[in-house]
Order: sequence, then C-alpha cells, then structure tokens
Amino acid sequence: MKKLGILTSGGDAPGMNAAIRAAALFAHADGVPVVGIEDGYRGLLRGMLHDLSPAEVGPISRTGGTVLGSTRAPEFFEPAARSEARRILDNAGVDALMVIGGNGSLTGAHHLTAEAPDWPCQVVGVPASIDNDVGLTGLSIGVDTAMNTIVEACDRISDTARAHDRAFIVEVMGRQCGYLAMTSGVAAAADMALFPEANRTEDALVQAVTKTILAAQERPGDKRVLIIKAEGVAVPTARLRERVDEAVAAARAVTHPDAPPIETRATVLGHVVRGGRPSAFDRLLAGRLAHVAYRALAGSGTDLMAAWLVPGDTATEGVRATAADPYCRVVDLAAMVEETKRLLDGTSPIARWRRHVFEDIEHVLGGWSAA
Ligand code: F6P
Repeated sequence: MKKLGILTSGGDAPGMNAAIRAAALFAHADGVPVVGIEDGYRGLLRGMLHDLSPAEVGPISRTGGTVLGSTRAPEFFEPAARSEARRILDNAGVDALMVIGGNGSLTGAHHLTAEAPDWPCQVVGVPASIDNDVGLTGLSIGVDTAMNTIVEACDRISDTARAHDRAFIVEVMGRQCGYLAMTSGVAAAADMALFPEANRTEDALVQAVTKTILAAQERPGDKRVLIIKAEGVAVPTARLRERVDEAVAAARAVTHPDAPPIETRATVLGHVVRGGRPSAFDRLLAGRLAHVAYRALAGSGTDLMAAWLVPGDTATEGVRATAADPYCRVVDLAAMVEETKRLLDGTSPIARWRRHVFEDIEHVLGGWSAA
C-alpha cells in the first residue's frame, strides 16, 4: 500500500471518527501515508484531500459526526463522475481507499472499483449508518449510540407521560428500516413499535394504536403509553396522532362518557438521534471494522466490505471469515448490494426474522398483558 485515502459519506454516524482514527493509525504504524478526503464523494470530486497525521486523528474517537465532513452526492451515481474520481485518486497517489458510510455510499464504492477492473486502486468499505440497513452486517457503526439516544429520550418522555397519564407517539429515524424503532421499543419498554416492514395500512395503524391506548386505561396504576414509530412508516406522525385522538375520544364517549379526555402527544426526535458522542460499543465496533478493512486492503483485497457477524453468514455466498477478528467478516460489496435490497423489500431472512420476532412479542411489549 503506497497511500491510504479515507472518506466518510452519506448521513454521518457516531463512531465514524473512531473508524477514521483506527484506519489512519494502522496505516501510520506501517509507514503508509494517509490522506483524508473531505466531504465524502463530493469533496473527492473537488480534489479536497489533505494529509491526515496521527496528531489530527489522536483525540477524535470521542466525538460524534465526522471530522472529515460528509455529503450526499447524487452526482456520484453517474459513471463519468466516478471516472473523474478515479483520475483524482490516481493523481494523488492513492492506491487504497476506505469508504466509511451507509448502503448508498458503499454501493458507490462498489461501482467505483467494479466498473474499472484494471484500476490499480483497491476499495474497501466500512458500514456506518444509524439505520442498520446495510446488508450482510449484523450491525453498522452508529446504531448502538442512536439506540441509546432514543432510549434516553423515551425514558424522559415516559416520566412526563406517566405524570399526566398521557400517550406519546415518538418518531425515530431509520429511513425505510424499522430496526431502531424495534430495538428501542424493547429497550425503552414501549407499548408498541410501528415499523415499515409490518406493511400496515393507515387504518390498521390507527386501529392498533387506539386499541393499545384504550387498553392502557384498564391497567391498575401506570397508564403511560409509549409508542415508537419508525419514520419509514408512511403515515405522517401528526396525522396519526390526530386520527388516534379522534378514535380514542369516540370510543371513550361511549364507554366512559364522564371521564376526562386521554391526551396524545407526538414527538419527532429527528436528527437528535444521529448526533452525540459515540457509545463505547460504537467506538469499539468502529475500531474493529476499520481494522478488518485495513487488513483486507493490506492483503490486496478490493470491492469488499468489513462486516460484523450475522448468524449463519459464512454459509452465504460472498461472505468470508477473517483472521483479523473472529466476530467480523469480509463481504463482497456486490453481495452486500443484493442483500441490502432484500433487507429493504422484506425478503431477506433477517428482515423476516425481525418481523416474526416482533409479531411474537408485541402483545407483552409494555410489560402488561391484557390476556
Ligand atoms: O441515513 C441516516 C438518516 O439519518 C436516516 O435515518 C434519515 O432518513 C436520513 O438520514 C436523513 O437525512 P438528511 O440528514 O439528509 O436529512
């Protein structure tokens, strides 16, 4: 390896800095110079590269965001832009590129190398996205921190919900993937998690949420209701709240005509979920994935991604164990692209399993079963 280039791309994720740091330090230890590419693929196309010294990366693993900056660069979908990127990397002497980002960024990394088989630069990806929607990795960098942020916010919301016997619908990020809503639903002891993989219609959602809120009124004591809704659920959260409010009021007018109304509130956590100091686990995951990615580059690998294990994954085509770390894998980027599609259209065994688990546990989520 003559020179390592590192870029972060797409939505930032807590832990990206820890991955940059680890990769840069491994390279420096081997005497390989490192350049940081600023602002993702867009910065690459503008030639925004600078030397990355050990001093610059030393203290960064504690911070959220990415010190290199990031962009969403739709122009990189164009083959001509990727050809220009290859030219810029060649001119800069970069013969090994580490791309740290989510599924769009890693798909870009795949095309960058796969469409130019004679290009001497190697490309290896590191999955980083709070959405956990990258195929063939059990976890991406940033998911754990995002989940902890959601759970902390929900714990706070639960305090005020409990004080007022209110119902809250909390919307969390995740794009088309319900992973964050599902896992934080369990961890925050929510009464319900709504996620796009369930494919519920708007009417079915209104009905299910209404039923949960009405059932909570029959509980002895605690009447807090916490519903976590993934942003990928197509119904806008404000409209869902309004429709649920109406349905709850209509039902209560019949069953409890003299009782005070049950109030529902909606909170959209938005980008709060993406920021903040990475958890210890995310720093560790970032370091381990960057280590595996660096070793793959050092071993002449290209068109690959470092991955955290998925049960049964080594039986999957394009997935290999790695000597660098027993919990990590090396995955063909092409295989990741295909599995990501299946993850998002619900046909992946992992997506099916997540949905199945939820159907199985949904009725006891809030810690109280009406049965
Ligand atoms: O992919 C990460 C993510 O935070 C998604 O959860 C969300 O849908 C999207 O990015 C928001 O993108 P932007 O920051 O460009 O608004």
